[in-house]
Amino acid sequence: MSRIAVIAGDGIGVDVIREGLKVLRAADEAFKLGLEIKEFDYGAERYLKDGVALPPGQMEDFRKNWDAVYLGAMGDPRIPDMRHAKDILLAMRFELDLYINLRPVRALDDRLVPLKGKTAKDIDMTMFRENTEGLYAGMGGIFKKGTPDEIATQEDINTFKGVHRICKAAFDFAQKHGKKKVTMADKHNVLRYGHDLWERVFFDLAKSYPGITAEHMFADALGMQLIKAPENFQVIVTNNMFGDILTDVGAILQGGLGVAGSGNIHPGRVSLFEPIHGSAPKYAGKDTANPVAAIATAQMMLEFLAEDGPRSAQLGADKQGRYKKAAARIEEVVVEAIRKGKTTKDLGGTLGCAATGDWMAAAMKG
Ligand code: IPM
Ligand code: MN
Repeated sequence: MSRIAVIAGDGIGVDVIREGLKVLRAADEAFKLGLEIKEFDYGAERYLKDGVALPPGQMEDFRKNWDAVYLGAMGDPRIPDMRHAKDILLAMRFELDLYINLRPVRALDDRLVPLKGKTAKDIDMTMFRENTEGLYAGMGGIFKKGTPDEIATQEDINTFKGVHRICKAAFDFAQKHGKKKVTMADKHNVLRYGHDLWERVFFDLAKSYPGITAEHMFADALGMQLIKAPENFQVIVTNNMFGDILTDVGAILQGGLGVAGSGNIHPGRVSLFEPIHGSAPKYAGKDTANPVAAIATAQMMLEFLAEDGPRSAQLGADKQGRYKKAAARIEEVVVEAIRKGKTTKDLGGTLGCAATGDWMAAAMKG
């Protein structure tokens, strides 16, 4: 059995997670996965009502009793400082130590690729974004606020442990999946301390992976190359801030935020899965949001639960195999839906959000 906690969250998060759950439940039934799914109502509404984003003890409950958290989106115009998003999304990343932000960048159809002269086969890479430190650590301060002498600092935290484990995760992934190259992006030409560490750790680690080419690229140059020659990349690893930006570039290469899923992972521990897109409040409840990113995210979650979840080993080989088959089937169904136009308008289809989910859930069973 695997236990999945669901937080649909705000805005279109609610619309797309509803469809993701349809497909997940269909997968559960068709492949006999034995999923236990429970929905939690955390998000803007609850925060505005209770004044707390996550009640006391909830993080511990996630940590101890669940295998994965499936999250929609956070963001609501009534909470302009995104306080509740920080207390839920960023807090989970930090407090559950979800150090791998895994973002596959794979185009599922030629039509989705926005670059001139490129097709789906040119867009096939996996991005590893460090997820627990860097500029996101929240260290720094403001001095003489609101005066002409104001000073604001934001510190970039790079630890040996943090850099080592994300680079290792990227190399291990490459090895396991037969990838021949890992590219690390930093700015050690300017950030002479923090990113010097990245440079040393990455190339030291590379010695343990003789079959894999270790390549370095400055983050700005990588941004350019991703557009110019995306076919040159297989696995990319970078820090939290650059990863935030570069994975958005990746999302557009594969067809936009409507199709991009992600995982916030600590192998062997409860991990968090979310589509990359935000809550898009304008489109909430209008049945126009594209659920493909949420469905692709459910696929990633099943892949994680098969092998890297807290209780994967307890599932046993047969069930682990069925989780993997279910994940692969979700991808087939998504590819088929895109090809046949059984999607929302942004992908060239004719369906609403709910009908897209219905079609894919039915295809899972069929
Ligand atoms: C992402 C998002 C978050 C981030 C925001 C919502 C805090 O942009 O998951 O990439 O910056 O990490
Ligand atoms: Mn982002």
